[in-house]
Amino acid sequence: MTENASLIYKGKTYLLPIVKGSEGEIGIDITKLRGQSGLITLDPGFANTGSCKSAITFMDGEKGILRYRGYPIEQLAEHSSFREVAYLLINGELPTEDQIKQFSILLNDHSLVHEDMRSFFESFPRASHPMGILSSMVNALKSFYPYLEDKEEAIDITVTRLLSKIRTLAAMSYKISRGHKVVYPSSKLSYCENLLNMMFHSPVNPYKIDQDIVQALNVFLILHADHEQNCSTSAVRMVGSGMVNLYASISAGISALWGRLHGGANQAVIEMLEKISKKEFTVSEAVKRAKDKNDPFRLMGFGHRVYKTYDPRTTIIKKKCDELILKLGINDPLLDIAMELENIAINDDYFIEHHLYPNVDFYSGIILRIIGIPTNMFTVMFAIGRLPGWIAQWKESMDDPEWKLNRPRQIYIGRTKRDYVPINKR
Ligand code: ACO
Repeated sequence: MTENASLIYKGKTYLLPIVKGSEGEIGIDITKLRGQSGLITLDPGFANTGSCKSAITFMDGEKGILRYRGYPIEQLAEHSSFREVAYLLINGELPTEDQIKQFSILLNDHSLVHEDMRSFFESFPRASHPMGILSSMVNALKSFYPYLEDKEEAIDITVTRLLSKIRTLAAMSYKISRGHKVVYPSSKLSYCENLLNMMFHSPVNPYKIDQDIVQALNVFLILHADHEQNCSTSAVRMVGSGMVNLYASISAGISALWGRLHGGANQAVIEMLEKISKKEFTVSEAVKRAKDKNDPFRLMGFGHRVYKTYDPRTTIIKKKCDELILKLGINDPLLDIAMELENIAINDDYFIEHHLYPNVDFYSGIILRIIGIPTNMFTVMFAIGRLPGWIAQWKESMDDPEWKLNRPRQIYIGRTKRDYVPINKR
């Protein structure tokens, strides 16, 4: 029997069905509300609104749980590879040996970028942010690789093309921004090895692949691979709902990710730590400013819309940072500042009362610095990681029997009807 919630408005009762998820999440189905009552719901920022049913990622923000297709993030980070996680997210199951082999062949076959696209890169001003370049280049892929005839095949190839080419595009944007020769992908290298090699190899200074660094990048990408209906994923679904092609939807996701309250936070965290390191302000001053209601300053890398406890990804990435620092004998003063800041903040009443804990971006900048990624490429690395999630969510929305064009309503608060006034009477 369907369970209902009842809403009483002007003496009339409206029964609203309760929807249950497989992990016991409950929601009120309001799809018939407006038709029956004339009412809409108002929820700025959508903090209480479920936009879809999804079988991809489960998060419990109160308990600090994150699972992709049922698999705990801790197990995937420990045992899996980014390539395998991408397959899992997009196809729903972990691949068999044959499936992963086939997937790798496709990734390799589609790794090159059309030579004509290089001229686009060269036309961007040198100071352009790589996120702007990446978003434009992904959108441009549609012109170079239009859909094939058969829909199923077209989707599979488009998906693999994107997954493979995004690395090449990201590395090209970095090389060209530095005025360096572009390095081509190699069939002999794995997904992460290729990305690192394309970014850092040069004819005069060959890049030596270090498996600890490769593994750290793998973990970074796995941790970022999906996070259910966050800002950029919602942008992908929203734009896709207009029946636009996959490239354009992903390009919208990249733009949304760029913001400093979302994926851009990893760059903002390092910039904040650098300011502390340069003595522009102290750790205590940063905490004091973050608590001041009259100061717009926020501690970057702290707080999350869903997690009200430790972000499970932070625990994994921090452990990886510690391991790498020990193994490679690195001394990064920013890590010490980060730990000092975390210590003060998590013991401070304001942060405790507001449930503000370090999110994944707090330590991801440190790990990217160890890998050798320049600060302005941090959010690009996040985008490469998030791509399988965006694709999986886009595909799920396209196959959803309850699919609808995304079109929220509003409560209008502007002027009511008035007559036009000729210019000489204003
Ligand atoms: N520093 C200081 N105070 C904060 C912070 C912070 N980082 N984050 C939230 N708060 C405070 C707010 O001032 C507000 O206080 P009040 O209730 O006393 O007015 C309260 O906590 C709630 O803040 P909201 O902005 O309403 O919470 P929301 O859930 O919308 O915010 C967000 C989440 C945007 C991530 C926020 O915590 C933030 O700005 N963090 C810093 C940026 C960041 O790290 N972003 C990365 C998020 S993870 C990701 O997208 C990959």
